[in-house]
Amino acid sequence: MPSLVVSNDMLSEFLDTSDEWISTRTGIKQRRIISNDSLKELATKASLQAIEDAGLTPKDIDFIICSNTVNNYVVPAFSCIIQGEIEANCPCIDLNAACTGFMYALYFAESLIASGKVKNVLVLCAEEPSRIVNWNDRNTCVLFGDGTAAVVLTEGNSFKSIHLTTQSRIEPLYYQRKLEYNPFVNNPDGDAPLVMNGKDVFKLAVSSSLADIGTVLKKTDLLAEEIDFFLLHQANMRIIETIREFLKQPVEKFPHNIQKCGNTSSASIPILLDELYRDGIIRSGDKIVLSAFGAGFTTGAAVLEWAK
Ligand SMILES: CC(C)(COP(=O)(O)OP(=O)(O)OC[C@H]1O[C@@H](n2cnc3c(N)ncnc32)[C@H](O)[C@@H]1OP(=O)(O)O)[C@@H](O)C(=O)NCCC(=O)NCCS
Repeated sequence: MPSLVVSNDMLSEFLDTSDEWISTRTGIKQRRIISNDSLKELATKASLQAIEDAGLTPKDIDFIICSNTVNNYVVPAFSCIIQGEIEANCPCIDLNAACTGFMYALYFAESLIASGKVKNVLVLCAEEPSRIVNWNDRNTCVLFGDGTAAVVLTEGNSFKSIHLTTQSRIEPLYYQRKLEYNPFVNNPDGDAPLVMNGKDVFKLAVSSSLADIGTVLKKTDLLAEEIDFFLLHQANMRIIETIREFLKQPVEKFPHNIQKCGNTSSASIPILLDELYRDGIIRSGDKIVLSAFGAGFTTGAAVLEWAK
């Protein structure tokens, strides 16, 4: 995580907002924002820690999949940069499924391993949404935080079910970057910091997450009661609470860290997973549901049995 902690009160110094508004509408009290650190440094550290924790070295990694929405480079892919930093020697690819990127990366990693082509895959989520929001727009900038997290997947049968969806819905959430001048282009390009219709995203998030969770539970013949933890994308505490109420499950099954991280896009679930693992809260044999949603509109959910 970046070292700079930005509280709601710090935001209210330059925005027409308040700790009271942000806390009650979102559950967020503070977020980390990249200031003196860099996304590359943080992503390198997360990758090396995950590889070490898996009892491996970077040379044992057969593929790197990086979920990243934005960074300084359009080419090469961010994963190519990190591969060099960690001194791995394997093919790399980036994917952009916005906040659902971790679920999409898991899907590809699991498929690659199941195909027998590779054994160990590094999935890295490296996100810096602070560089796509307009810091004068209180509707969006208060919601996000920066962060990175990595996991290593290896052979096994922990994945019980994984399900992804995409509906082409641009208007509720998008960011357009400026392209270079081209003398042959006559139509003006779009160029906008993150635009969001919060109410539409809220409704899409709740309905799609509930549908996805229903699908993966059905596929695995499990009931919500049999799941130990639901790790949901940390976008808004009220979204998490609404989903929990629909599922009629106790609060303890929905751990969250949105209060201190904000929405770190695709890094939010693996950051939470790492915290719970290091605090000894999730244990080997626990059944865990993951569920995320994001711009696209993309969604994904999985059931896994924690094997570490
Ligand atoms: C953004 C969100 C918190 C807004 O909550 P809400 O309940 O829809 O908002 P409300 O209707 O209570 O309030 C809207 C009002 O608050 C104002 N407002 C917006 N942001 C504000 C802020 N940071 N501080 C103070 N006021 C703010 C708006 O201007 C609007 O004012 P108006 O009614 O005078 O036009 C909520 O819609 C949300 O979380 N949506 C999902 C967003 C998300 O998860 N995005 C990422 C997906 S990956």
